[in-house]
Amino acid sequence: MKKLEQLYEGKAKKVFATDHANTVIIEYKDDATAFNGLKKGTISGKGVVNNKMSNHLFKLLEEKGIPTHYIEQLSDRETAVKRVEILPLEVIIRNRAAGSFSKRMGVAEGTPLHCVILEYSYKDDELGDPFINSYYVRALQLASDQEMEKVKEYAFRINEILSAYFLNLGVELIDFKLEFGRFQGEIVLADEISPDTCRLWDVKTGKKLDKDRFRQDLGQVEEAYQEMVKRLLG
Ligand code: TMP
Repeated sequence: MKKLEQLYEGKAKKVFATDHANTVIIEYKDDATAFNGLKKGTISGKGVVNNKMSNHLFKLLEEKGIPTHYIEQLSDRETAVKRVEILPLEVIIRNRAAGSFSKRMGVAEGTPLHCVILEYSYKDDELGDPFINSYYVRALQLASDQEMEKVKEYAFRINEILSAYFLNLGVELIDFKLEFGRFQGEIVLADEISPDTCRLWDVKTGKKLDKDRFRQDLGQVEEAYQEMVKRLLG
């Protein structure tokens, strides 16, 4: 497969065309941002960790029946994926109070929840990815009802699979963000699953092993990313 022109550059990844019309190459960067790009930095080695970790988890999810964009890892930072049309939604699952939920609701971080929460944000940096609900999705035709049924079904199933998988590695999956795309008429999981997009707490010590170390200046940022990839891939 030939890597052709750059199609897009996001905050953490670049996307390139290839000589296959239905395939693009994702290249993971070490750039890190937080608070809608207000805080900027570099997390050395992050691109490699996120590429490997995301691919490992996408393969696991495929085996468990979740369709994903994953095709093939090409190098430490590059992966071939299906060229999907991304739904303009961030799909967030919360197992415990943290982050913007804690802030919005005044509930201490770490508080257990009586049920798993599914929430949506509208993917729009200029608007600051505002919180929306399923009526917004329908009213603005961001996705069809049928597509949203799939998104919901996959999101809860992914939570079950990943929560169990991480627990086995001594890590609690506190919350995470997913993005889905359309590929040949079907909904598939896209983007990435990594310490950038999940909150991951060590079960024994409660230590944060995710991007909150960068967001909150907790130190040992690189170490946390390396620790996660080590637990996943040995
Ligand atoms: P939040 O508590 O800040 O809303 O974040 C919920 C989850 O989503 C958390 O695991 C981090 C992830 N996330 C992203 O992947 N990208 C984002 O831009 C934001 C704000 C959160």
